[in-house]
Amino acid sequence: MQLIDQFNRKIDYIRVSVTDRCDFRCVYCMSEKMTFLPRSTVLSLEEIERVIKVFTELGVKKVRITGGEPLVRKDIDKLFKSIGRIDALDEITLTTNGSQLKSKSMMLKKAGVKRINISLDSLNPITFKKLTRTGDLQKVLDGIHAAIDVGFDKIKLNTVLMKNLNEEEIYSLVDYAIKYYLDISFIEEMPLGHTAYDRKSTSVNNDDILLKLKEKYLLSKSNISTSGPAEYFSIKNTQTKIGLISPHSHNFCENCNRVRISCKGELFLCLGHDTKIDLMPLIRSFPNNDEPLKEAILNSMSIKPKSHNFDLADAQPAVVRFMSHTGG
Ligand code: 5AD
Ligand code: SF4
Repeated sequence: MQLIDQFNRKIDYIRVSVTDRCDFRCVYCMSEKMTFLPRSTVLSLEEIERVIKVFTELGVKKVRITGGEPLVRKDIDKLFKSIGRIDALDEITLTTNGSQLKSKSMMLKKAGVKRINISLDSLNPITFKKLTRTGDLQKVLDGIHAAIDVGFDKIKLNTVLMKNLNEEEIYSLVDYAIKYYLDISFIEEMPLGHTAYDRKSTSVNNDDILLKLKEKYLLSKSNISTSGPAEYFSIKNTQTKIGLISPHSHNFCENCNRVRISCKGELFLCLGHDTKIDLMPLIRSFPNNDEPLKEAILNSMSIKPKSHNFDLADAQPAVVRFMSHTGG
């Protein structure tokens, strides 16, 4: 069985947020005081495993575990171990802030995780603290180096550049990536949730980032396609690729291959829309019968939106939920 939407896009990739909690409070992601969901409303680890299994029975081959910060969820090791055993999954990936990687890298490698994305917005401890509010740069750097030592196939840094904050670190971050054979993606800030700043004044456009990068590095456009919103460039004479993720500037929706599952069991059909189906009632009312769940997922294909419509000129966020709720 396969998931094909009304625009003939094949959905074979899911991103699963396993918690809305995080040990950081990044300024573009969260407000200073966050209220997190009561635990009973969040999918249990067993329920997450079940949902992932059901999706693989519908043709999904690839899962990304996100959050919040996935690695702060209690007993997360169990989840990785159990989904590591699902044969139908070709790829398990993780998005993390890196704070727990020192102790978790080996576990992830053993569970079969091949690629990880680590957020890194600054190499300056003071700026890092300003940006993450509660983060400790050294802990993250130790985590990144633990991950390098364990030997994942690919480690990619994710960076959100913001005016008057970390914009000037673009070269030092790229140089760091080059030095350690990592990839790095710059993500344009997306209007999700109400956060600390007026996004119009802090947001850095990826076209400007590309111009800056070209001043220092010899870039050649890479033809790898991930069906996602990224354009990739190789830096000559290095192993590093730079990704530019531009939800505003470029349209990427026609090749969309993914849906998201929130930690509350909501199936979000597009990052830029509220369109969703609540799977939780089906999960909890039919603990031993996957058919209603499968049917709901299959039916959701008819409401997957054609494209997002983010617009920074809007005073209100496009979507009021935070990235940590839906998963990045
Ligand atoms: N806009 C862009 N990127 C965001 N992230 C979190 N919130 C936002 C937002 N509003 C980033 C994190 C992480 C990635 C998964 O998403 O920095 O690297
Ligand atoms: Fe946590 Fe990631 Fe959000 Fe930062 S961006 S607060 S690390 S979930």
